[in-house]
Amino acid sequence: MSSLGGVSVVRAVKKRWRKIALLAVISVALATWASLGLLTKKYQAHTTLLVQPLVPAEGISYDQLLTNERLTVTYGEIIKSYTIARNVIKTLGLNTTETKLLRKLSVSPVKDSLVLALRVTDPDPDLAIKIAAAFASDFVRKLPDFMHVENVSVLDSARLLNSGRPVSPNPALYAGVAFFLALNTGIGVSILLEYLNRTVDDEDTLEQVLSAPVLGVIPVYPAPAVIEGGDRKPSKRVPCVDDPRSSVAEAFRSLRTGIRHIPFEHVIRTILVTSPLPLEGKTSVAVGLAACLAQEGRQVLLMDCDLRHPSVHEFFDLSNERGLTDVLAARHSLPDCVFPTQVSGLKVLPAGQLPPDPAGVLSQIGFSALLESFRNTYDTVILDAPPLLSAADGQILGKLCDGVLLVVKADATQTESVRRSKRLLARVGARIIGSVLNAKRPDRRGHYGYSVF
Ligand SMILES: Nc1ncnc2c1ncn2[C@@H]1O[C@H](COP(=O)(O)OP(=O)(O)OP(=O)(O)O)[C@@H](O)[C@H]1O
Ligand SMILES: [Mg+2]
Repeated sequence: MSSLGGVSVVRAVKKRWRKIALLAVISVALATWASLGLLTKKYQAHTTLLVQPLVPAEGISYDQLLTNERLTVTYGEIIKSYTIARNVIKTLGLNTTETKLLRKLSVSPVKDSLVLALRVTDPDPDLAIKIAAAFASDFVRKLPDFMHVENVSVLDSARLLNSGRPVSPNPALYAGVAFFLALNTGIGVSILLEYLNRTVDDEDTLEQVLSAPVLGVIPVYPAPAVIEGGDRKPSKRVPCVDDPRSSVAEAFRSLRTGIRHIPFEHVIRTILVTSPLPLEGKTSVAVGLAACLAQEGRQVLLMDCDLRHPSVHEFFDLSNERGLTDVLAARHSLPDCVFPTQVSGLKVLPAGQLPPDPAGVLSQIGFSALLESFRNTYDTVILDAPPLLSAADGQILGKLCDGVLLVVKADATQTESVRRSKRLLARVGARIIGSVLNAKRPDRRGHYGYSVF
C-alpha cells in the first residue's frame, strides 16, 4: 500500500489520521448506542426432535439410512407448513398470521444425524420458548395424520439460547462492523481528497516533487494591522528590518541558515529567486532573504530582474526610473543605478525602464558580463525574476546563476507546476539549490500564532 493513482496512501492517511480515528470512535459509539438503546432485543429459543429410524425386518441398509435422512428433511418442511403454524397460533392464542409466525422459526436437520433443531426468535423470551415448544409438540401430535407413523419425539424441550441473553443486536459485532466501515471510509475519502488536492501543502510533498531540500518555510502574514507612521503598504515591509521579532523574520533567518548550509561543492554567490506562477511571493522572499543575509554582515546586491512586473524598489521606497535596463542600454552609469538601503550592506539595483523584449535584454552578453562583475564585487547577489511558467526570463537567468531558489505558495501552487518548473530549469542546466514554502498557514499547534506585522 504505497501509491494509488499517483497518490501516496501512507501520506494521505498520515495527514488525516486524527480525523479518521475520530470518525472510527464516533461510529463505534453510535453503533454501540444504537444496538443497545434503539434496536429491539431478540431472544432465541431452541428445541430438538429425534426421528426414530424406520427399520425394516431384514435390517437397515445404506439406502434405508438415506431414506431416514430424507425423512428428517421432509419432517423439517412439515414443521414449517402453514398447517402446523395455524395450529400453533390456535394453541397459544396468538394474534398473528402464519407467515409472520413462520418468519420467527428456523428448522434445520443436525448434520449426519436424525435430529431436527428448531429455533424461534422473538422479542419476548417466554413467548419464544412457548412457540418453539408448541411447534415441536404440535408437529409430534399431527405427524400420524400426515405420514401414518409415530417415530418422532421431543429430544430437548424448548429453552433459551445464549444463557438467556438476547441474540441480537450484538453490540460487539455492530461496533466491529462500524469500526471497519469507518476506517475504510476514512482511508478512502483521504485518498480521494489527496487525489483531488494536487496543490503543494507541506514540506514533504515539495521536497518529493522537486527532489531538492526545502530551505525555508515562510508563514502566511496575519491580516495586516494598521501601521501608524509608515508610508509603505504592510505587504511591502521587510520582515527582518521592520519587525525583526516577528515569526516571519524568524522564518527568514532560518532560510538564511538553510542557504548557508547548502551542501554544494561550489560557492553560491548568485541566487535566482523565482516561482512557477505569478503572485507566489518571489519578490517578498527575495527581499526578505537579501535583507537577512546583509544583516549577517555580507555585502549583498538585490537585483530586480523582473523586467515585466518590477516591484523590488517598492520595498525600499526607491524609484524605478533608473535601473538595470538603463545600465545595459548605457543610459545611466552603474553607480547611479545601485542604491543603498536602510539595511547596511544591502544594495538594490531596480529594474529600470521596462524594455519591449525582456528576455532579449537578459540574453545579452552585457547582462552576463554585468552579473559576473557583481559576483566579484558582492558576497551574494540575489536576483528577483518573473514566473518560470509565464516567460523564458527565469530559465535564462537560472542558467547564469549559481543556484535557483524556487518559491512555492503553500496550498496554492499545483504540484504539476512545480514539476514543470523543475523540467524547464533542468533543460537549461540550471541548478536548483532548494525551495521555499511560502505563505504556509499555522498548524493546529499554533505555530506562527503571534503578531507578525
Ligand atoms: N508569506 C506571505 N503571506 C501572506 N501574503 C504574502 C506572503 N508572501 C507574499 N505575500 C503577498 O502576496 C502578494 C504577492 O507577493 P510578491 O509580489 O512577493 O509575489 P511575486 O511572486 O513576486 O509576484 P509577481 O509574480 O507579481 O512578481 C503580495 O501582496 C504579498 O504581500
Ligand atoms: Mg515579483
